[in-house]
Amino acid sequence: WDLFADDIAAILELKRRRNAVILAHNYQTPEIFHCIADIRGDSLALARDAQGLDAEVIVMAGVHFMAETAKLMNPDRTVLMPSLEAGCSLADSITAEDVCALRRAHPGVPVVTYVNSTAEVKAESDICCTSANARRIVESLGVPRVIMIPDEFLAQNVQRETGVEIITWRGHCEVHERFTPQEIRTWRADNPDVAVLAHPECPPAVVAEADFSGSTAAMSDFVSSGAHRKVLLVTECSMSDNLAATHPDVEFVRPCNLCPHMKRITLRAIRHALETMSHEVTIPEHLVAGGRRAVERMLAA
Ligand code: 13P
Ligand code: SF4
Repeated sequence: WDLFADDIAAILELKRRRNAVILAHNYQTPEIFHCIADIRGDSLALARDAQGLDAEVIVMAGVHFMAETAKLMNPDRTVLMPSLEAGCSLADSITAEDVCALRRAHPGVPVVTYVNSTAEVKAESDICCTSANARRIVESLGVPRVIMIPDEFLAQNVQRETGVEIITWRGHCEVHERFTPQEIRTWRADNPDVAVLAHPECPPAVVAEADFSGSTAAMSDFVSSGAHRKVLLVTECSMSDNLAATHPDVEFVRPCNLCPHMKRITLRAIRHALETMSHEVTIPEHLVAGGRRAVERMLAA
């Protein structure tokens, strides 16, 4: 912690001086998540709680699509990304033109877009969803068929849960696609008393091996419920690190994968962002109304 003390003190002072808030995703490292963040959570919480903030500056300790969503919800505020290299394999897998082509191929079928997508893709969509509400959003449309982009595995997992026919895209999360059913079976054999929680970005065959599947916030609630003393979170590594810091009575079995994009965000990068007011996130004017509408429809559903 001594390594971090100087940067933490500087960031706390800069936050005051700049009238800034820091939003941190559950996959941020503990020194960011626990020591400097003002708002913490899953993608849904970061989109919802970004609305109507008093602060003049919003720093996103997360990846680029999250900063774009915060900017869509706060067009008059300055939104800063500490690293422009913090992307996402899902957001990079599809363009607005791809969405238009899907609509042409499936006329009249609504487009449900995972928030892990660019503002230009959101602007071509009917409604957004996150892993916390995907099932509810799809069911709320009351139709037999939807196009769900860009995460193929999330879409397949939702199709299994809802019975709604889902036209998928070939996007994958590079962190969650690496888990295998065999890996989970081996960990369970070594830890017969473990509760296995899998993120719905995992392949369906991996989710089928789990006791529970949900967003990072749902995983957090599951652990906080105290019902299980030993858990295996089939997701990004910092998730277990952050929960372990506040749940010393729970044992975390750790086959995890790192997200290289989330790890671009460091205390040093956040300090630099606040010192230099960079990198400012902007959204082309013609995308703002459409992108915001898709997010607002999700929040209202
Ligand atoms: P949630 O926190 O919404 O579950 O999303 C996980 C994720 O991979 C975000 O990039
Ligand atoms: Fe994207 Fe996966 Fe990283 Fe989340 S964990 S930012 S979905 S690559």
